[in-house]
Amino acid sequence: MKKYITTPIYYVNDVPHIGHAYTTIIADFLKKFYTLEGNETFLLTGTDEHGQKIEQSAKAKGKTPMQYATEISQSFKSLWDKMEISYDHFLRTTDPHHIQAVQKAFVKMQEKGDIYLGEYEGHYCISCESFFTPTQLKENGGCPDCGKPTQIIKEESYFFALSKYQDQLLKWYESNPILPSYRQNEVIAFVSQGLNDLSITRTTFEWGIPIPSQKDDQKHIIYVWLDALMNYVSALGYGQDGAQMSFWEEAIHLVGKDILRFHAIYWPAFLLSLELPLPQKIYAHGWWLNEGQKMSKSIGNVIDPQAMIAEFGNDLFRYFLLREVPFGQDGDFSHTSLIDRSNSELSNDLGNLLNRVVGMSEKYFALQLYTESLQEFFAQELENINQIIHSALQEIPQARFHRYLEEVWRLFALGNELISKYEPWNLQKNGEENKTQALLVLLCNILYKGATLIYPAIPQSAQKIVQALGKDLGDLSSIKTHYFNGFQLTKTDPLFPKIQKPEPKMPPSSSQVKQEETSLIKIDDFFLSDLRVGEVIEAKRVEGSDKLLCFQIDLGEGRLRQIISGIAKYYDPQDLIGTQVCVVANLKPAKLMGMISEGMILSVKDDEGLKLIVPQSKKKNGSKIG
Ligand code: MSP
Repeated sequence: MKKYITTPIYYVNDVPHIGHAYTTIIADFLKKFYTLEGNETFLLTGTDEHGQKIEQSAKAKGKTPMQYATEISQSFKSLWDKMEISYDHFLRTTDPHHIQAVQKAFVKMQEKGDIYLGEYEGHYCISCESFFTPTQLKENGGCPDCGKPTQIIKEESYFFALSKYQDQLLKWYESNPILPSYRQNEVIAFVSQGLNDLSITRTTFEWGIPIPSQKDDQKHIIYVWLDALMNYVSALGYGQDGAQMSFWEEAIHLVGKDILRFHAIYWPAFLLSLELPLPQKIYAHGWWLNEGQKMSKSIGNVIDPQAMIAEFGNDLFRYFLLREVPFGQDGDFSHTSLIDRSNSELSNDLGNLLNRVVGMSEKYFALQLYTESLQEFFAQELENINQIIHSALQEIPQARFHRYLEEVWRLFALGNELISKYEPWNLQKNGEENKTQALLVLLCNILYKGATLIYPAIPQSAQKIVQALGKDLGDLSSIKTHYFNGFQLTKTDPLFPKIQKPEPKMPPSSSQVKQEETSLIKIDDFFLSDLRVGEVIEAKRVEGSDKLLCFQIDLGEGRLRQIISGIAKYYDPQDLIGTQVCVVANLKPAKLMGMISEGMILSVKDDEGLKLIVPQSKKKNGSKIG
């Protein structure tokens, strides 16, 4: 089978940051996974170089847009090379073949009767390169996505007949192309409200692809999102004679939740107009915060992937991003969590297992192992191993990459348990050499299978493990059932040396803590809390916790808030969907079970249990409680 995996193409108005690295790492993880599965893969990435924002950024730096775009595009390419991302093509939207493809698409859409000339009047956010209706804006007129001021634009524009495709889009969503499903539900809700036609040309700046042919219209520049989205097919040769595009039918798009709308609504509508097949899947991931705070250049807390890989190496950085947060949800980048995961999961669970196995094999069998008694001694264990691999592999089509790794770690836990259970040093003492040797062969098989499975996540370390075992990397079908009878091991340095944690900051001593003189507060103090009414859009249990529920709440902000609440014992999450609740909306985000919580839901508890505090009748989402 073929698998076509794409990252978004990144804007060149800024150097790469952790958000870009995250999407690209997941894409590379999938490419490696599908390759191990025996598929023919193609990973596309690149840079999105046109548009007003880039024109402005270049001007501010005293450069031409092309000079500026070339420099930043190169910094993305160098980062991916440093991070050993196995991309197959790096597309720039300034590439001539891309420009030609976009123009051809414009003509095709015109021929289809999907483009008409009109006048656009409305609000435009340059930062998001996105149009909004007045009702979508924030109270202060800011962009609902990024909060920055919007501009009122009135200009002649070509429109794409997006509304014409509403029903076809809704039909398409029935095939569940978007994961996680709560993101798909958001898209369906948005489309069901009705779609407006989309302005797809601009006339007030120049840095973009001009519409083809018509003399009078030379001033029209193609909307940067139509230009950018087309990269997914222009990279495969769309618009060129004899283009095969054989990968296109197997497309998987990886995107952040902020750009899902463009990929899940505009893009399939454009494709329908172009009479091209729709993508197989769109995986939308959440956002990374830095120690609980939104990252921004003005606060100066943006995490630089270069610095992370210099400090921790590629594999640990990849592992942390993939493992820390359930795919789709927002996550907190905390150095302490990263170091904890490295020391416990990579050093203890995996690194030590390898060391112990190599150490015992050296001591008892001079690093050469052979047995024909795996089945005789360890029939049950073999079954357990096969079962764990089976359940790990089932997580990938659900885009639950953190769960996949969790399952693989069950293999390593099993390996460590077997050493404690069978105590090979005692087997040796009791003259049961055959069993010791069979146990070590079994453990090597666990390490080999585990290494193959973690190769997509931590490729360099997986290669080292496989080398220590004297083998080549396997493929996913062979590791499902095949066991080696022998191994010729090589000694290796510790794979994941322990990382020292930075000294914790001392809490203030009791004498430093100023005691509150009174428990009464002023009304102003009360109003420091921003209490709002919000509607539960999505609710589910938090994996691994019997107390916590994870909510996606609509506070009328144009985005959903994730709130983790300890009420799982009192409510079935499904029963709460659609309920309006009271929320403390201005709490500093906190992390619970590795997941970000951006607020608190109010409830009341007495001897008879807990109840949520809810408005007496339906109120507009986001209404202030006073
Ligand atoms: N150029 C468009 C994409 C066009 S695709 C046809 C774009 N570029 S971007 O550079 O602004 O963002 C690219 C990706 O980075 C998005 O998927 C976005 O979600 C991701 N991230 C940016 N900041 C992020 C975090 N803080 N955390 C995780 N990812 C975030 O949008």
